[in-house]
Amino acid sequence: MHRPGVGACLSAAEEAGIHNLRLFCHDAVEVLEQMIPDESIDTLQLFFPDPWHKSRHHKRRIVQPAFVQMLRPKLKQGGLFHMATDWQNYAEHMLEVMSQAEGFENTSEFGDYVPRPDQRPLTKFERRGHRLGHGVWDLIFKRIA
Ligand SMILES: C[S@@+](CC[C@H](N)C(=O)[O-])C[C@H]1O[C@@H](n2cnc3c(N)ncnc32)[C@H](O)[C@@H]1O
Repeated sequence: MHRPGVGACLSAAEEAGIHNLRLFCHDAVEVLEQMIPDESIDTLQLFFPDPWHKSRHHKRRIVQPAFVQMLRPKLKQGGLFHMATDWQNYAEHMLEVMSQAEGFENTSEFGDYVPRPDQRPLTKFERRGHRLGHGVWDLIFKRIA
């Protein structure tokens, strides 16, 4: 939904000669619900979603039980849902929602977070977080039903 980000991504894709990319400048929830077929996704990546720091705004967070059950059938069986956040309270919220979500299994050997996977790109947003001394938490859950 951040138009300058969409423009920067298109420009970087052109420079890199990437042609198998499709961008939507639209609400990701509606795109997932209405434009993505069931059983079509190998890995869904949700990196640094807005954390909504204040308790009274937590209900606005995208990771919620209903969202997670809407996206589950979009994943292939065995497909992954990878989340990252630099806000500890949101990481704990993600862990709680996902641990209770039907049809998912945590891939973390300790039942919580996973080490930063190499394939996750370092964005401007994350670099800024590092400068401010923020931690980062990665969670990867697998669709098992
Ligand atoms: C904290 S930024 C992180 C951006 C990027 N993922 C990164 O790691 O650098 C959160 C982004 O999510 C976008 N966003 C929030 N809700 C959205 C939604 N429902 N659909 C699509 N984008 C959304 C915002 O516009 C913002 O650009």
